[in-house]
Amino acid sequence: MDDRTKPAFTVKTLAAQPPGAQERITKAVTQPIHMSATYLRDPDNRYPAGHVYGRADNVSVQQAERLIAALEGAETALLFGSGMAAASSVFLALDRPTHIVASQVMYWGFRAWLREISRYGHSVSFIETSDLDAVRAVVQPGSTGLFWIETPSNPLWTISDIAAIAEIAHQAGAVLCVDSTVATPVLTRPLSLGADIVMHSATKYLNGHADVVAGALATARDGPLWSRIVKMRDQLGNALGAFDAWLLIRGMRTLDVRVRNQSRSAATIAARLVRHAALAQVLYPGLPQHEGYHTALRQMKGGFGGMFSVRFRNGRRAAIAVAAAVRLWKRATSFGGIESLIEHRASIEGDGSPCPDDLLRFSVGLEDVEELYEDLTRALAIAA
Ligand SMILES: Cc1ncc(COP(=O)(O)O)c(C=O)c1O
Repeated sequence: MDDRTKPAFTVKTLAAQPPGAQERITKAVTQPIHMSATYLRDPDNRYPAGHVYGRADNVSVQQAERLIAALEGAETALLFGSGMAAASSVFLALDRPTHIVASQVMYWGFRAWLREISRYGHSVSFIETSDLDAVRAVVQPGSTGLFWIETPSNPLWTISDIAAIAEIAHQAGAVLCVDSTVATPVLTRPLSLGADIVMHSATKYLNGHADVVAGALATARDGPLWSRIVKMRDQLGNALGAFDAWLLIRGMRTLDVRVRNQSRSAATIAARLVRHAALAQVLYPGLPQHEGYHTALRQMKGGFGGMFSVRFRNGRRAAIAVAAAVRLWKRATSFGGIESLIEHRASIEGDGSPCPDDLLRFSVGLEDVEELYEDLTRALAIAA
């Protein structure tokens, strides 16, 4: 990783002691939640602290944004009411009809939204962005304006080379946005690799406790696109609420320790499953046989994330039977929380999904890794 945006402290220290963490008046070690929807004007008609109205201006939200910007080495960050709101804002802020290049494998809900982007005058090419030749080949000089990649990509965990795609994008005069929800700034800092905007479903690892729905964007530099995104959020009002922002700060303070622990456990379980008789394939970027392993080794530092998937020799029925048989793993969508989750993705993604029917996705939580493994192998015996 190069050092273009190297922060003053590591992610671990920044998260443990967020910028402006202490409250100046009472000296409280933890910040209060700023619930006010409006702010006082001085008799001279000015707003002394610069805060005007809650839709655009909430102190708790701004504190959370400052922390995300610090973690990502960004100039500035913005919070939204969900990851979908954050991601879609980038596209809605484009000011001319644009050709978009997007990862074929990505969060299905966002892919579904992007498939209908032509209603806004844009066109999109979904390609395998782990294949750099395919990325180069799809560029339409003069009209490609935005690259949207997700790495590792949900739920196949393919790896796209951020630095290489940033170069291709910039040569085309385009912007590169990276959905880094799975990697988190603990493992990858896309802006330091040349990306322009990084996006998170903060619902996942950033918050980490499965009790907030939130989204974030952080930018390497302010500019016309970013200004339009800021203006649009303030006008449309799809910002995050103060209480959720406060919970998010609380969650982010333990981000480093959670993500490292979850990555270690995922790596342990994935490696042990590789030779399991019931399984046709284990998909985890930390396995040397994974197609994206060498790229992941370069751009992910300190681990390969807490997510993996497996494919079953006996197809969909085996996958569903195993999901039904686990006790410790919880059958639920989403990921990145404390509790381990298991999900048959094809059931939720529906038609047109690149996710095979024989696949189960795992979000590794913070339980004892041996107990998680034991629960899973007991359930896997059913499918063998
Ligand atoms: C990788 C990724 N990006 C974006 C989203 C959308 O985020 P949210 O559910 O917070 O709207 C999700 C949700 O699962 C996701 O997994």
